[in-house]
Amino acid sequence: MVHLFTVSKIYPPSYPALTDIQLDIEKGEFVFLSGPSGAGKTTLLKLLFREEEATDGQVVVNGRNVARLSNKGVARLRQEIGLVFQDFRLLARLTALDNVALAAEVVGMARRESRRKAFHLLRELGLKDRHNAKPPALSGGEQQRVAIARALVNDPLLVLADEPTGNLDPEMADETMRLFAQMHQRGTTVVVATHNTGLLERFHHRVVLLQQGRVAGGRKECPAGV
Ligand SMILES: Nc1ncnc2c1ncn2[C@@H]1O[C@H](COP(=O)(O)OP(=O)(O)OP(=O)(O)O)[C@@H](O)[C@H]1O
Ligand SMILES: [Mg+2]
Repeated sequence: MVHLFTVSKIYPPSYPALTDIQLDIEKGEFVFLSGPSGAGKTTLLKLLFREEEATDGQVVVNGRNVARLSNKGVARLRQEIGLVFQDFRLLARLTALDNVALAAEVVGMARRESRRKAFHLLRELGLKDRHNAKPPALSGGEQQRVAIARALVNDPLLVLADEPTGNLDPEMADETMRLFAQMHQRGTTVVVATHNTGLLERFHHRVVLLQQGRVAGGRKECPAGV
């Protein structure tokens, strides 16, 4: 699903954020991208949906070399990806429900169906009573959950989540991780960037460890309890 061949990213004028990354994530895998602040986790995710372009090497997502995509191709790629941004990027003037439903409507889902689905997801994420609130009136953790619902509403093939539990208390963080696990069980490929090592201990998925822009180790998926 995701293949990086000797990928490097240098931010202008000369800051090496990622160096010589070799990474394969197969369809249906659940992968944690971990490493300290500044290691390059967000940059790596940005390469996958072409918010940033690699300086060197090749990035292939769902069979497409992302460097070769037209604008239309980039739009199509992003439709297949559910994105949870580190800074949420919610629309402040819309309610929580409309933020989620709109993401489905813009790709052609009927209004009634999109609202039904959005409501269902918000309820699963514990926001049943807040669906009519607008983002400025929501706590950080509530906004994060709206962002997660928005990422999942189109049943994406690939979910890329950047610190999706950063603003959540441990209980809500685990609840959110279980929702990603459900998506994973239904066949979705999930990549979660996090520097929260507690999550890696509680959820036994594959780990790719980044350090100073390089893959510095990791762990294979291990059975629960190991
Ligand atoms: N647009 C940019 N221009 C220049 N340098 C950047 C830019 N974005 C990120 N960087 C630098 O690239 C490095 C990697 O940043 P990145 O945001 O990918 O790290 P991260 O692992 O996501 O960190 P965090 O855990 O704090 O979110 C950092 O040193 C950062 O300062
Ligand atoms: Mg980051």
